Amino acid sequence: MDPGDLFGAGPRAVSLAAGADVTGFRNAVRRLVAGDVPPERVVWSVGEAPGLFGATDESGETPPLALPRGVADLVTRVVPHRDPERYALLYTLVWRVLHGERRLLEVSSDPLVHRLERMAKAIARDLHKMHAFLRFRLVEGEGPERFVAWFEPDHHILQAAAPFFVGRFRSLHWTILTPEGSALWDTSALTFGPPGRREDAPTRDGFEAGWRDYYESTFNPARTNLAAMRAEMPKKYWRNMPETAAIPGLVRAAASRTDSMIERAPQKAIKRDPVRAVAAMADQAPESLDALNAIIRRSEPLVPGATQAVLGEGRVGAAIAFVGEQPGDHEDRQGRPFVGPAGQLLSKAMAEAGLVRGDAYLTNAVKHFKFEERGKRRIHQNPTAGEVSHYRWWLERELDFVAPRLVVALGATAVLALAGRAIPVTRARGPAEFGKGYAGFITVHPSYLLRLPDGAKDEAYAAFVQDLRRVGELATRLAA
Ligand code: URA
Repeated sequence: MDPGDLFGAGPRAVSLAAGADVTGFRNAVRRLVAGDVPPERVVWSVGEAPGLFGATDESGETPPLALPRGVADLVTRVVPHRDPERYALLYTLVWRVLHGERRLLEVSSDPLVHRLERMAKAIARDLHKMHAFLRFRLVEGEGPERFVAWFEPDHHILQAAAPFFVGRFRSLHWTILTPEGSALWDTSALTFGPPGRREDAPTRDGFEAGWRDYYESTFNPARTNLAAMRAEMPKKYWRNMPETAAIPGLVRAAASRTDSMIERAPQKAIKRDPVRAVAAMADQAPESLDALNAIIRRSEPLVPGATQAVLGEGRVGAAIAFVGEQPGDHEDRQGRPFVGPAGQLLSKAMAEAGLVRGDAYLTNAVKHFKFEERGKRRIHQNPTAGEVSHYRWWLERELDFVAPRLVVALGATAVLALAGRAIPVTRARGPAEFGKGYAGFITVHPSYLLRLPDGAKDEAYAAFVQDLRRVGELATRLAA
């Protein structure tokens, strides 16, 4: 079709690139709206070639539309859906919003809104699965270490999913192959290329045996529940994952292993498998902070011992969220964050900086207390990077629900959880970028102040209060 033909009276054909052509769709929508073309006159098609209004058309001849943020956001979330009607549905949404129904997204009973929200949820689930179940394998050979993974998502999510792996495996060279396209990270740039084939990815590597041993040693045959296992980790993904290659054999042997476990009693506690735990959680896609908290409450600590999970505290919609490391002894007993000595110091500093604790949201990167018992005392243990990444999924969802304007990382563990990599707090102290929909700020953890020698305490405390004043100013500016 000739683009000049677009604004005539007949049906309007719009062809977009295969996959998730967000840019092409946005450009098409701008032109269609500028030409006053109603949804019923548009025929959407998806081809192999770049879309008619594809990436080359970002010059902005037609100005961006003033859409409510939620609508623009929903468009980005739904475009990767494999439903061929997605573009037609989204254009209808945009059209209605621009023609008198500006608050349409608030009408969740509207069939179009309902359908689009369901599509967005399907995409979120697909993303969670890809993040949880994709496994890189080392490519044997000369040259720098390279890792390759094969994955078959249900929707066109490769581009949306890949940045997560950049955050996780920033210092590795890796490629993700899918039947629709590939993503390549060379430790500095992420690029997308042609589809891959399963046979182009190694099926095993040197880590394989280690994973399997680990899985076999943590597998509890008495708890074998195939239905639950399949629900948590759809079978389709099992073959990609070294740890699950052991499942069929283990399940077959489960009955006899159960008998011999009973005979061997007393048993040693079986350590939880973090891989399955994360996968199971990520698959649940909670729809509210309460639902998320219910999952956290039910979960076992990664390291046994904690009395309870300590949830975040504060309002959904709080302007500022503070993220600490993990609950301490007092928090573990009371089930509330920042109530022990470090929390009291934080409250005092907040008050001096003009911040009201009750207006903020307070939470931790890790939700369970990890400690070592020495006599009657429970001595705090720092969480490992693996433990922080285990809890990261929760923190991200939690902040999605709370939607603060500013997130304050208190100390190195919070920085690791929020930024996805270790950044020295002394170097990065101040405003920060965590790559999410909120502004960030890095400062020290109040327990660091408590550990300082007396001579250094006052000055460090004053600097902390000064940081919190800047946090308050920044939040006010962000609200303006
Ligand atoms: N330290 C933290 O990081 N969080 C708490 O909740 C208490 C102490």
